[in-house]
Amino acid sequence: MESIVLFGPPGAGKGTQAQRIMDSTGLPQVSTGDMLRAAVAAGTTTGIEAKKFMDAGKLVPDEVIIALICDRIQDPDATNGVMFDGFPRTIPQAEALSKITEVSHVIAIDVPDERIVERICGRYTCGNCSSVYHDTFNPTTKDGFCDNCDSTEFKRRADDNADTVLSRLSAYHEQTSPLAKWYIERGIFHQIDGDRAIDEITTDILSALK
Ligand code: AP5
Repeated sequence: MESIVLFGPPGAGKGTQAQRIMDSTGLPQVSTGDMLRAAVAAGTTTGIEAKKFMDAGKLVPDEVIIALICDRIQDPDATNGVMFDGFPRTIPQAEALSKITEVSHVIAIDVPDERIVERICGRYTCGNCSSVYHDTFNPTTKDGFCDNCDSTEFKRRADDNADTVLSRLSAYHEQTSPLAKWYIERGIFHQIDGDRAIDEITTDILSALK
């Protein structure tokens, strides 16, 4: 099986693009952020441990993340590979991943830091289907109704505030961006300019995946 990795800073548009390219790739989205938020909401031991790190904008320890991924990859829908969103984020996570699945493409969505805070602070998601929106850049077409499922329930993330975003950006630059070199050396790294219209980015990602 071959998997894809969506790589980039917080708020780069990984989740937005994952939802748009799922149909074309046929691969399920595996977001470690979504899995951790589900664990926090369920009050599991993993969730209680992870919440301290997430609230502070820090990375959750590698062993917690790797255990989550090793479990998820056993699910029947992962047989033909998956689309990782927000994983791996450290060299140890990438090394662990290389032992459990082949990665064919790493799609790096590149967005300058100065755009990140405005993107994250305006984000909201559908409470039913998790479609991602933005107050200014990507609002729902019909005011108050999700474009995808017509739900009227929306939520905002606890860690989507200006202070936590700065910590998340520091964690990205210190711990995650070194992974780019690791994947460039393996010849599977594709850099995409993420500071453009959402549709243009989707088109470029689909071309890179051909
Ligand atoms: P996670 O949930 O993965 O958050 P993140 O990486 O910080 O990424 P985001 O979900 O914030 O952004 P995104 O790139 O998906 O952007 P989106 O499409 O939503 O992780 C949360 C926390 O969990 C971490 O801080 C850490 O503590 C922990 N964690 C998770 N994985 C981990 C791991 N592997 N190891 C350790 N810890 C881990 O878009 C953002 C906004 O911009 C939206 O409003 C969207 O509508 C808008 N937008 C998107 N594209 C565009 C565009 N082209 N133009 C304008 N606006 C756009």
